[in-house]
Amino acid sequence: MGDIVRLQKYIAMCGVASRRAAEELISEGKVKVNGEKVIEQGVKVEIGSDRVMVNGKEIKPVQKDYYIMLNKPAGYVSTVKDQFERPTVIDLLGEEVSTRIFPVGRLDYETEGLLLMTNDGDFTYKVTHPKHNIDKTYIAVIKGGISIKGLAVLRSGVTLDDGFKTSPAEVEMLNADNGHTVIKITIHEGKNRQVRRMFEAVGCRVVELQRISIGRVELGNLPLGRWRYLTSHEVNYLKNL
Ligand code: URA
Repeated sequence: MGDIVRLQKYIAMCGVASRRAAEELISEGKVKVNGEKVIEQGVKVEIGSDRVMVNGKEIKPVQKDYYIMLNKPAGYVSTVKDQFERPTVIDLLGEEVSTRIFPVGRLDYETEGLLLMTNDGDFTYKVTHPKHNIDKTYIAVIKGGISIKGLAVLRSGVTLDDGFKTSPAEVEMLNADNGHTVIKITIHEGKNRQVRRMFEAVGCRVVELQRISIGRVELGNLPLGRWRYLTSHEVNYLKNL
C-alpha cells in the first residue's frame, strides 16, 4: 500500500502547484480523483493507487532522491518502524521529507551521531556493501581506563564473541579523567554493535558512543537531533566509492 496523503499535498508533490494553489484548483473544480470531480478540501489519496487529474491531465509525484545526514540522539531506533513503539529516526525528519526514506545501515538505540538516510536503494547498497569497507569513525567513552595492551589489541584486530576477527583499527586516546576514558576509533567493517563488542573483547565497557564520520563525510557541528541534506559533493563521493 502506498502512503496516504491529502489531495492538495499530492498535487504539490507532483510539482503542479503549491499546496495553497492546489486548494484553489480543487475548489475551482479542476481536480478529479479516479474520474470523479472533487471540490471539497481534505480528501485523501493513496500514492501509486489513486489516479489524480488536474485540468484533464493525469499527474504523478516527482520521484526525487533524498540524501540526508542526521545527528541521531540516543533513544531512537534506526529503523522505519519499531516493534516496541519506541521513537524512530524517521520521527526526526519532519514534514519536509515527503517520501519513504530509509536509514543507510544502523546505529544502536543508545548510539548517537552520523546516520545517513535516503530513498535511493542503489546508494544504500553501495555505501553498506562490505566490499567497500568504508571507514567509520567513532568517539567512545569507556568506563575506567584501558591498558596499553588493550589499545594494542584493538589496533591489530580483535576476535569478537562470535569468532569474527576485526581488521586493524586506528585508535587514539583523547582524554582520561573522572573514571572515564575517551577514545577515537576508526573501524573498517560494520558488524552489529562492533565498537561495543571490540571494547568488550579487551575488558572495557562503552558508556557513550557517537559516530563522527563515514569515509570523508563528517558530522561536523550539526546539532543533535537535527538533519541536513548532503551536498552534491558528498553524494558523488559516496556514489563513487
Ligand atoms: N558500533 C556499535 O557498537 N554500535 C553502533 O551503533 C555502531 C557501531
